[in-house]
Amino acid sequence: MSPLSINDFPEHFTWGVATSAFQIEGAADADGKGPSIWDDFCRVPGVIADASDGRQACEHYQRWADDLDLVADLGVDAYRFSISWPRVQPLGSGAFNEAGFAFYERLVDGMLARGLKPFLTLNHWDLPSALQARGGWENRDTVQCFVDYACEVARRLGDRVTSICTHNEPWVIAVLGHESGIFAPGIKSRAAAIQVAHHLFLSHGLALSAMRAQGCKADMGIVLNLAPINAATDAEADQAAARRADGGGLRWYVEPLLKGEYPADVLQELGADAPRILPGDMASIQVPLDFLGVNYYMRSVVSAGEPWDLKTSGNEITDMGWEVYPQGLTELLLRLHRDYTLPPIFITENGAAFPDEVINQQVHDSQRQRYIARHIAATLEAMRQGVRVDGYFVWSLLDNFEWSSGYAKRFGIVRVDYDTQARSLKDSALWYRNFLTSKRKPGN
Ligand code: FCB
Repeated sequence: MSPLSINDFPEHFTWGVATSAFQIEGAADADGKGPSIWDDFCRVPGVIADASDGRQACEHYQRWADDLDLVADLGVDAYRFSISWPRVQPLGSGAFNEAGFAFYERLVDGMLARGLKPFLTLNHWDLPSALQARGGWENRDTVQCFVDYACEVARRLGDRVTSICTHNEPWVIAVLGHESGIFAPGIKSRAAAIQVAHHLFLSHGLALSAMRAQGCKADMGIVLNLAPINAATDAEADQAAARRADGGGLRWYVEPLLKGEYPADVLQELGADAPRILPGDMASIQVPLDFLGVNYYMRSVVSAGEPWDLKTSGNEITDMGWEVYPQGLTELLLRLHRDYTLPPIFITENGAAFPDEVINQQVHDSQRQRYIARHIAATLEAMRQGVRVDGYFVWSLLDNFEWSSGYAKRFGIVRVDYDTQARSLKDSALWYRNFLTSKRKPGN
């Protein structure tokens, strides 16, 4: 394989790093911010591995200017961040919080001043608690609340941001939040999860239409976590299990958005758990996307019987217990390209947690560096085979609050010392910067 070079990517390709509000901001009740379902969830005993919470996190709310300097210093084009809904609208409906909006105005203006393109996400999971008290995403009324919130954000920031993503990973909100219950709000019901997914799709479509009707010109789309789903063996039972998993995990999320329909086989299997769909919903969901964000971490291997044993793959495993499988990203992109009419794709998250070794302030995270390089190469391979990919974002800029894993799992290319809040570039960040700055200047 020839060495990876940024010059193999088209000139317009966007390179970035990503974070989300709850995972880095801290300042959980500063300046009028309301509580979110993640603030509440962290108080439930036993649900966060290290019993931590997001109250302080990376203190990004205070340290945002230094953090943006770091982003700019990496040489990336863009920064993907999210807005904490309860920071700008404490109850999720009604009054907006000026101090909250002032923070994001400073942040967005700070990006522009540093030549960074703002990629904004409206919902990276921290729903206002007041809405959860009324049923949260299970309640259809939350759809209109989200549309109102989206329109207000677009009105204030829409002329300054490059792109607006409605939801980050509806599958996680639906399934981990409402079926397995290991994420906020911790509900355990398949019917709830299915209804939640429907309301997320609906609110996405309605928000896009409403923001566009208001004249917002930012690129608009959604971010899905997707994986190729491989059967553990050729046996018919394993193949059938993989088809079912693909139906529930990929087609259920892609097809309403791109085809305006749910996959019939999955609907049938859901039986009484099928969503309540009102006339017009599917047309509202299927609005044209300016982009589809894909978050990729690993493939999924499915078997009918015993759970598949990761160790038998022989591949490296990250600190999350996730298999390193870069060719899965190529497979996934080719499959999406083959089966659907796609808008431009952005890899909106890709990265890995590894237990970092710190020697004399230096973090030699060669596994993370290799992980990122191999997945950039896998993206390029799909592009060579005809898939249009317009950008790639590393998850994550900083070590941060990794949801139910707390602070123990580190995804940052920048290390955070949680005692002092000092940031230091890991080797992976130095590598990324070196990769990005080796770009041939036009005309050379
Ligand atoms: C994704 C989330 C992101 C982060 C990574 C590791 O599912 O979008 O916030 O937790 O996983």
